[in-house]
Amino acid sequence: MTYATEDNITDLAVDRWGTAHDPRQAEVLTSLVRHLHDFAREVRLTEGEWMAGIQWLTRVGQISDDKREEFILASDVLGLSMLVVQMNNHFGPGATPATVLGPFHIDGSPPAPYGWDMSDGIEGTPFFITGTVRSVTGEPIAGAVLDVWQADADGTYEAQLDVDEARLRAKYHTREDGTYCIRSIVPLGYAIPMDGPVGDLIATTDISYFRPSHIHFLLEEDGYERLVTHLFAEGTPNLDDDVVFGVKEELITPFLPHEPGPAPDGSSLEMPFVTAHYDFVLQPTAR
Ligand code: BEZ
Ligand code: FE
Repeated sequence: MTYATEDNITDLAVDRWGTAHDPRQAEVLTSLVRHLHDFAREVRLTEGEWMAGIQWLTRVGQISDDKREEFILASDVLGLSMLVVQMNNHFGPGATPATVLGPFHIDGSPPAPYGWDMSDGIEGTPFFITGTVRSVTGEPIAGAVLDVWQADADGTYEAQLDVDEARLRAKYHTREDGTYCIRSIVPLGYAIPMDGPVGDLIATTDISYFRPSHIHFLLEEDGYERLVTHLFAEGTPNLDDDVVFGVKEELITPFLPHEPGPAPDGSSLEMPFVTAHYDFVLQPTAR
């Protein structure tokens, strides 16, 4: 029988977790054990620090529920989400890059026809996004789903409110020629939730806790890689220090102001509005 010592504990734990029945799970768990032990050795982790870490993780769990995703937020601000996104979305040249999903996506958004206003009377500057969804090989994609969500003019997402109806989110489809048209309100930059354990940790640093103005997209179509991405407003603050590392050059696009007049959905507006034009390019799935 081998009892644990400071020197052999890592080997003992790796052997034990290497018995996981699924080979991939064994690989992941044994690597996790090695890295956790190396981390504790490298920083000479004290018992007090270890307990503080456990208590922080406990609070992350306790504040989370079916709407508040504090673990996703923790992963986002630590840069882990964006690392995993980049390792797993190696699209070809010309394809629209992926970025973080974030904690505020809600499944099952209502279907919306071309040009539908997903802001449904919520205060803000009218905003139209138009463009085409196409393949890297050039052809337009008909019937592609654009699942869209965003914050309101106060930086608040539906998931942060107690509401029953879909708010600032909808699922649009491209037309036969691959075009889409979304009507909403201009999204503003906002602070990530700072009233929980992730915010408490950030408050002990000089990290900026703001995200640049953006709108979220999840694009899906059979035969193409699923694309989780954002569009960022050109020139908006915090493009250079996004707290979740989500900005990509290719996703920054002009949000153009217009005087009252004809709008991209064919209507005429009596108030100023803003437009953005963006062509999403999807990567065909490998056969
Ligand atoms: C968001 O853009 O919705 C978001 C992403 C990561 C963390 C917090 C918010
Ligand atoms: Fe967001």
